Amino acid sequence: MLGFGVDIGGSGIKGCLVDLDKGELHGERLRIETPQPAVPEPVYEVVAQIVRHFEWEGRIGVTFPGVLKGGVAHTAANVDKSWLGTDVAQGLEKHVPDGVQTLNDADAAGLAEMRYGAGRDQRGVVLMLTFGTGIGSALFTDGVLVPNTEFGHIQVDGHDGEKKASAAAREREELSYPKWAKRVDRYLDVLEAGLWLDLIIVGGGVSKKADKWVPLLSTRTPVVPAQLLNDAGIVGAALAAAERIGQ
Ligand code: BGC
Repeated sequence: MLGFGVDIGGSGIKGCLVDLDKGELHGERLRIETPQPAVPEPVYEVVAQIVRHFEWEGRIGVTFPGVLKGGVAHTAANVDKSWLGTDVAQGLEKHVPDGVQTLNDADAAGLAEMRYGAGRDQRGVVLMLTFGTGIGSALFTDGVLVPNTEFGHIQVDGHDGEKKASAAAREREELSYPKWAKRVDRYLDVLEAGLWLDLIIVGGGVSKKADKWVPLLSTRTPVVPAQLLNDAGIVGAALAAAERIGQ
C-alpha cells in the first residue's frame, strides 16, 4: 500500500510517496527549501506544491517540529514564533483537501523506527531521540506512542538540554565526536534519572556516524542507531496518516 508523507524542517520541506508494506520511500523524494521567514502560509503552499508534484490524491501525513495538540501548534522552539497557537492541520487542509494528519517530527520518526527499523518488535519502554537543530523525542510503551514528549528541553546543568547536546551544537562549537559524546552522555544521565528505559534509539544525521560516539556513552540503557536515517520523518508521517495516529 502506498501513502504520502511530508517532513517540515527548518531548512527543507521534504515529501515522498511511501511504500507502507516495506517502510521505505517509493521513488525519489522531493526537497524544497523552507521559505524564509518560515511562517505558516508559505510553508503550506510548499507542502501543496510537493503533493501536486507527485499527483497524490488521498490523506497525507505532515510533521511539525513542535508540540501539536488537535492540530494546533503549542511550541515553536526552532521555528518562527508565528506558529504558536496556529491550527496547522486546518491551515494545511485548505491547501491539501484530501485530509491531513499532523504530528510532531520526532514522533513521526519514532513511529517509523518502531514499525520498520531499530525498534521493530521491541516491547517495554523505548525512547527515540533525534539529534538535529534541536533534540526531538518519541516515547513508546509496548510499541504505543506517548505523543509530544519534549525531552530536548529538560534542564541539564542549567541549560536547555538541546542547546548543548544537539547535533547543531556540535557543529556550531566545532566539537570533536568524543567531546560531543560527553555532552550527550551527561544529557542522557539526566534523562535516565527520571526514566527507566529498555532501549534508546538515536536518530538524525549524526546516527550515520554512530560508531564515532555511541560506543563512548555510559548509559545503563542499550543505545542503538536508527535505521531509516533521513527518511524516518517522511515514512512515519505517511504511516500516521494511514493509521490516523497523531495529534
Ligand atoms: C522541539 C521538538 C522537536 C525537536 C526536533 C525541539 O526543539 O521542541 O518538538 O521534535 O526540536 O525538531
